Amino acid sequence: MRCLCPKLRNPGRLRPLGGGHVVAVGLAAMLTVAACRAAWARVDRGLASLLRAGRRNSAFATAHLTNVGTCRTITPVLASEGDMCNSACIDFGRTELRREDVQSKAVIEVGSLDLNGSLRSVVEAMRPGHYVGVDLVPGPGVDTICDASDLVRAFGPCRFDLVICTEVVEHVRDWRAVMSNLKLILRPGGTLLLTTRAPGFHFHGYPYDFWRYDQTDMQAIFSDFAIEALEPDPLMPGVFLKARKPATFAENDLSHYELYSVITRRSARDVRDRDIWVFKIRYRIRRLLTSLIRPRERLRQRERARLRQRERARLRQRERSR
Ligand SMILES: C[S@@+](CC[C@H](N)C(=O)[O-])C[C@H]1O[C@@H](n2cnc3c(N)ncnc32)[C@H](O)[C@@H]1O
Repeated sequence: MRCLCPKLRNPGRLRPLGGGHVVAVGLAAMLTVAACRAAWARVDRGLASLLRAGRRNSAFATAHLTNVGTCRTITPVLASEGDMCNSACIDFGRTELRREDVQSKAVIEVGSLDLNGSLRSVVEAMRPGHYVGVDLVPGPGVDTICDASDLVRAFGPCRFDLVICTEVVEHVRDWRAVMSNLKLILRPGGTLLLTTRAPGFHFHGYPYDFWRYDQTDMQAIFSDFAIEALEPDPLMPGVFLKARKPATFAENDLSHYELYSVITRRSARDVRDRDIWVFKIRYRIRRLLTSLIRPRERLRQRERARLRQRERARLRQRERSR
C-alpha cells in the first residue's frame, strides 16, 4: 500500500525540525489547552449555576460556596424530600426516645437544619432541660453554627445527655472525627440517636456526600457503646441506631475501618482528593450526556429547581413569621 503523505513517501525530502516548527507546535498546543480550559470552565459555570439555583436558601449557598475546598462542584445533585429526615426517621425517634431519655436533660441535635421535618418537636414535647441545634449553616432549627467534627472543642466533653444526629454522617468526609465527637460530647449513660443512609441510596449533596453505612458498620463503629436499637429504614436504604454510652467508656480504634464510599464506589478507609477529582469528572460527563441525550430530564431538573425555589420561599416566610 502506498503511503499518502508525500514527505513520508520521499523520506529524503524530510528536513529536520527547525526552531520555527517547535514554536508553531508549542503555540498550537497552548491554543488547544486554552480552548479545552475555556470549554471546561463553561461546563463548570453551568453546573455551578445549577447548583446555586437548587440551593435551599442563600445562607446555605454562601456558607457552602465559601467552604468548598477541593470538592465544590461534586454535589450539583440536591436532595429531594426523601433525602432528609423522612417519616420513618421521625417514627423511629418517637418510638425509641423515652421520657427518661429527654425530660430535664441537655439535648443537642447535630446537623439540625429543619428542611422537611425534624425530631425537635417530638423531643421538645418531652420537656428537655435544654435543646441546642447545631449545623454548618444558619436556618430553621439551627441555634449555633458548628462543624460536627468540632463539637468537643465548642461544647466540651460529656456535656449532653442526648445526642440526635439524623441524616448527617453520610455527608462528612472525616466520619471518624464526627463519630468520635458524637461519642465524646455525651455524658456516660447518655443516649445517641442516629439515622443515616445505607448502600443503595442514591448520591445526594448536603453539602457533599461520601459514605454509606449498613448495620454491620454501625455495630463496629459503636462497639464501645451499648446498642439498644439497630434497624434498617423501612422506606429506603438506610439505618437507624439508638445506643447508650457506658458508664466506663473507652473509645474504640476505627482508624483501619473501611466504609462503602459513593465517591470511590467501593469500601475505602478514606476518600482522597484524587478520588474526588475522578468522581467529579465522571459525574460531570454523565450529567452533561444525560442533559444532551435526554432533554426531558433537563425539563425535569428545571421543574425540580422551581419547586425547590418555592420551598425556599415558603421556609423564608415561615422564618419571618416566627
Ligand atoms: C441531609 S441534611 C439533614 C438535615 C436534618 N438533620 C434532617 O434530618 O432533615 C444534612 C445536614 O447536615 C448538615 N451538615 C453537613 N455536614 C456537616 C458538618 N460537618 N457539621 C455540621 N452539620 C453538617 C448540613 O448542613 C445539613 O443541614
